[in-house]
Amino acid sequence: MMTQDEMKRSAAREAVNYLSEGDIVGVGTGSTADYFIQELSSWGGASGAIASSEITASRLRDCGIPVLSLNDTDSFGVYVDGADEINRNLEMIKGGGGALTREKIVAAVAEKFICIADETKVVDVLGTFPLPLEVIPMAGAYVSREVQKIGGEPTLRQGFLTDNGNVIIDIHGLTIDKAVELELELNGIVGAVTNGIFARRSADLLVYGTKNGVCTEYADSK
Ligand code: A5P
Repeated sequence: MMTQDEMKRSAAREAVNYLSEGDIVGVGTGSTADYFIQELSSWGGASGAIASSEITASRLRDCGIPVLSLNDTDSFGVYVDGADEINRNLEMIKGGGGALTREKIVAAVAEKFICIADETKVVDVLGTFPLPLEVIPMAGAYVSREVQKIGGEPTLRQGFLTDNGNVIIDIHGLTIDKAVELELELNGIVGAVTNGIFARRSADLLVYGTKNGVCTEYADSK
């Protein structure tokens, strides 16, 4: 029986098949992305990487993969990252590891977003996993009140600051059936930096490990 980690690793290994020699590769954050970094290192074909967090940058450097600045890179082909939840439209909740803002920036620049996951991440409706919201620290209480007005239960993530020096509010109790609308609504709260709904820029391809092997799924509209 395959464990969850083995399913993550198998998806990470499969994702390398979507890369070409000499590619600059965008790299996400989290345990599944860590497996991908190992596979990227074994493959050896990337000319460089764009990191979505300080920890990912450090892991890439440890593997000898050059980390490039996004400001010096006009475009690149593929961004590979995990997710906390992903639905059949390939809309996601991300940010369980707190790297959502940089992840969303790197995903926005990439031509193609490949989400790598294990089968436990695939859901019909987003929202069981608490939705992370990165917030400017002085706006924490205000943003929490605004979140309550739209029916969410905000919890400040204790003892955690993002790479950008901000706090994370985890929003519980949401059923996210209109992901694009909620992503935009949360973006409109003053003091909120980024929310963990990746729906306006969803994934182009989902590669997920199951107990019976790796499956792939393309978004309907893509
Ligand atoms: C990091 O901020 C997140 O967006 C991760 O991509 C997400 O939490 C998935 O993490 P795992 O791969 O560790 O499950």
